[in-house]
Amino acid sequence: MKIHVYRDLEAQGKAAAALFAAQILKKPDSVLGFATGSTPLRTYAALADLYAQGALDFSRVHTFNLDEYVGMAREHEQSYFNFMYTNLFSKVNIPAENYRLPNGLAADIDRECAEYEAAIEAAGGIDLQFLGIGHDGHIGFNEPCGEFPKATHCVALTPMTIEANKRFFASADEVPRRAISMGIGTIMRARGVVLVIYGADKAEITARALKGPVTPQVPASILQYHPNCTVLLDEAAAAEL
Ligand code: PGA
Repeated sequence: MKIHVYRDLEAQGKAAAALFAAQILKKPDSVLGFATGSTPLRTYAALADLYAQGALDFSRVHTFNLDEYVGMAREHEQSYFNFMYTNLFSKVNIPAENYRLPNGLAADIDRECAEYEAAIEAAGGIDLQFLGIGHDGHIGFNEPCGEFPKATHCVALTPMTIEANKRFFASADEVPRRAISMGIGTIMRARGVVLVIYGADKAEITARALKGPVTPQVPASILQYHPNCTVLLDEAAAAEL
């Protein structure tokens, strides 16, 4: 793991964007793995800026997102599809057929999971995957559990995640209870991973994930074994390392 610490969130977001920009410049038909949440916002803004300046071309890029809520239409304001469209896809020249998120409205969710996993493989696998982390160490919606989930699967959200995500909904009752998520195996097969963490509230889980034992009880801890994982922290998140 390469760990870098940044003084402010702007620099951290730009540094993450620079890694993705370098990937696209090196391989214009890169397959990128994207995430939602607060963490990637500055990175997506910086990528959109680079595109606006003419420095990046997304026309041959393909993307797969980590996850999507089950039962939520793409058009819903809180769908991860809508998040990606609003914050990145509508701002760059990526063709609509080149970005994919799990379909939370699929009639057969298990089949959707299998097809999503197969689509990633058919695209040649993910070149570079963006990750944030949850307070319980989750990556994607892979929550603490008895063993690392291998492939894209359907998960029940934990009370902690429902609590963390309720800020985007009128109440906790409206937060979907299930999601489709890439598995830990899917994430670990990405050829490169960029993990971005900021904030004092994530200092404890940062230390557990990066320096503690590798255990499915802290799903992000598996990244200690990833051969090409870059971690970008702010000083607050790095405080307990
Ligand atoms: P956040 O979420 O970026 O909104 O903190 C991260 C996560 O839960 O994976």
